[in-house]
This record gives sequence, C-alpha cells and structure tokens, in this order.
Amino acid sequence: SEGSDPHQLCCSSSLHEQEEKMGYLYHMRLSDDVLLDVMARFQAEMVKGLGRDTNPTATVKMLPSFVRSLPDGSEKGDFLAVDLGGSQFRALEVKVFNDGRQSSQLESKFYPTPKEVIQGSGAELFSYVADCLSDFMESRNLKHKKLPLGFTFSFPCKQTELEEGVLLSWTKHFKARGVQGTDVASSLRKALQKHKDIDVDVLAMVNDTVGTMMTCGYDDPRCEVGLIIGTGTNACYMEEMRHIDLVEGDEGRMCINTEWGAFGDDGALDDLRTEFDRELDLGSLNPGKQLFEKMISSLYLGELVRLILLKMTKEGLLFNGKVSAALLTKGKIEMKHVSAMEKYKEGLSNTKEILTELNLFPSEDDCIAVQHVCTIVSFRSANLCAAALAAILTRLRENKKLLRLRTTVGIDGGLYKTHPQYPKRLHKVVRRLVPNCDVRFLLSQSGSAKGAAMVTAVAYRLAAQRKQ
Ligand code: GLC
Repeated sequence: SEGSDPHQLCCSSSLHEQEEKMGYLYHMRLSDDVLLDVMARFQAEMVKGLGRDTNPTATVKMLPSFVRSLPDGSEKGDFLAVDLGGSQFRALEVKVFNDGRQSSQLESKFYPTPKEVIQGSGAELFSYVADCLSDFMESRNLKHKKLPLGFTFSFPCKQTELEEGVLLSWTKHFKARGVQGTDVASSLRKALQKHKDIDVDVLAMVNDTVGTMMTCGYDDPRCEVGLIIGTGTNACYMEEMRHIDLVEGDEGRMCINTEWGAFGDDGALDDLRTEFDRELDLGSLNPGKQLFEKMISSLYLGELVRLILLKMTKEGLLFNGKVSAALLTKGKIEMKHVSAMEKYKEGLSNTKEILTELNLFPSEDDCIAVQHVCTIVSFRSANLCAAALAAILTRLRENKKLLRLRTTVGIDGGLYKTHPQYPKRLHKVVRRLVPNCDVRFLLSQSGSAKGAAMVTAVAYRLAAQRKQ
C-alpha cells in the first residue's frame, strides 16, 4: 500500500539504493515543506496578477471572466455549446428547464481535431468549428431555430465582456496561425455567418475551468473553484471585485481564470525543475512557456517518463543498458501508458507489455523500476497541483475572513479522471496542506461545455430582462 509521504514510496531497498545514485529522481519528490513554499509563491503570484501595476509583468495572468454569478434557477431554454481546446472537440445542445427543480438535458457529438486543423491557419480552424456545429445541428434537426451559443475555449483570453475574448497565446498542442491577439468569438461568428442555413448567436465565451465551475455549481451551490487536470492544467475561482483592479466596480465577486499553467515562466520554479523538465520544454511547441503545466498535465507526463527512462538506460540502470529506437522517439510514451503501468493489480503486467512493445527486453526488476519512475512523475504532478490549489483555498478563506472554510472544487480533465491513484493523492495532499479547509471535490459529470451553456443561459436571461 501507499504511504502519504512520497519518501516512503520505495518498494524495495535495492531500488532505494538505485535511486540514491540517481539524484535527479530524488529531486522530483517534494516534501510538504517544499509544497508549502510553492503554495506561498503561488499566493504571491496571484496578488501580482490582480494588481493594476503589477499585472503587465505577472506570469500568472489572473484573467477576469465576466462571470459574476452562478445560475439562479430561473434560466430556461435551448442552448448550443462548442468546446474547443481539450482532448476532444465537442458540439452540444443543452436544454435547461425547471420542473420543480432546475434540470437539464444534454446531447452532444465529438469531432476529431486533426493536426492540420489545429496547427494550420486560423480561418481554417474556425471554419472547421462552424462546419462541425452545422453538422451537429443538422443531425439534431435544429437548423430552423435561432439559438444562443456558449463557447468553451480552453486558452488564455483577455476579456472585456462576456461575449468577446482576445487570445493571448496558444498553449498545449494548438498553434493555428493568425489567431493570437485577435477576438476569437468574433472569428467564430464570422465563420458561422458563412452557413446561411443556421442562425446562431454567440453570447458567451468561457474558459474550460469556468465552465467546469459552473457545471458543478449547478449541482452544488457551494462550488467556487473550477479545476482542470487534463491535457493542460488550470484553475479558476470566485474573487472579490474589490481585489480585481482591472475591472471597474467593488461590489460582489467575479470568477478569475488564473491561467496557472504559466506559473514559473519567470524562473520562479527553477529550483524545482529538473534536467528532464528543461529538455521536455526545449522540444515543445512553446519553449519557455507554461512551465508549471509542463510538470503537471497529461500532454507532458508520458514524455517526462520517457526522458527519465532513456537516461537510466544509457547509464546502464535499466534493460541491460540497451536503448531501443522506440525509446529514443519523442512522444512514444503517453499518459495512457503511465496510467496503465500504475494500475494496482495489472500494473506490473501492463508495464511488461508496454515496454516489450517499445522493443525493450524488461526483466522483472526493470518493470518495477519503471513503475516507480511513473509513480514519482505522477505523484509530483499531484503534489504541485495540490500546492497551487491550497493557495487558492487559502485566498478564498482569507477573503471571507473565516477561520475554517467549507467549499467545493469542481474538477474535470482526463488525467484526474483516468489515472488510478491521482484523485486520492491530490485530495490527501490538499487536506494536509490546508487543514483549515473542508474541501469537497466534485467531478464534473458532463464536462465544461454544459457550464458554458449555463453561462449563456444567464446572459440570455439578463439580456431579455434588459430589453423589457
Ligand atoms: C491550458 C490553457 C488554459 C486551460 C488549460 C486546461 O493551460 O492555457 O486556458 O484552462 O489548459 O485545459
């Protein structure tokens, strides 16, 4: 069984000796003292991002979302949503109604996002999104209706209102030309206008963290944090308006998209980063950017494992020192492999199978050592995520001037959902780091796009009220 202290993870003493020889692995185990220090650094970053004078040079951008309140129960209607930027692109129809209590019904369809589309031209990307939406509407028989749409766009955007957002930079595996610095909602509107047979009104644009918070907030009104641990990682939370210098007004709260993936881009985490983190970064689409994300999210963890295994093999610590062409190939180990190797029961046989497929000839000891590497890498991810989340929870508690905070964190993302031990580890570390917060972790069942539809529903209700 697994101790809460990552220092007790070693399964055999010979491994422990091996690891002592490899200082680089030891460096990836983060003690609670280090995590508390990371938490304090992130608290300082949040303050910097929120301040008018400090925001321009802040790495953690703390972006206002213009989402001010949770659904109030009176929303109703038929809404569309598109969700772009996670592992899968999706179009949805969300019906919101109230039959005694507020309920919703959801239909959706996934579409592939080929590399040519997400790394081609911006115009092509948006026309692809519009084509898919039109196809979805056709299949749902919705083409004759005028419908409001919420757009989940999982990248850092500067918003000055709910219905527009300027892309600050691409992250993760997206890199379409000519989109950075432009209003993404208006590009989507333009692409949709070319489809004469549909009539869609893009009313709201939200980050996936915000969508997740709203989705979970629908089931639990206490939810005031949204967290994504998937292809990328990020979190949002409800901040007091009086602390948000970049938006007029001091009353109430607004949801802030922290964009914590960029934490460390100014060197703030350099003491924790290893040679593997640096190598991975150099080979990525956005070197020097999203350094915190690159230590945490599923797009990168498999590659980190590969780089470590490669070094261990070259040093003769694994596979009798024999490297295979597959092990030398970037991207050959993916998150799904790491998850499979860390499974409780089948983990060891999965590991043997995966390594054999990579044309390595693993002994039993090799398999155990490789599992151990996976655990260290994914445990570090959960630890770092926990430290930043603990900083947000502390901020919420202090904002409310409470000694104890009771709150709910809405979560989504493939890594959290599919890794066998990740949720348990994350929860445990968060509870250790902030013992004065009672946190409920609520998994988003229907994804962040339902939340986007909810935001749209609220916007729609408010717009209707204004017209009256
Ligand atoms: C990346 C994006 C961020 C998103 C996260 C999770 O960090 O920059 O906007 O929320 O991935 O998808």
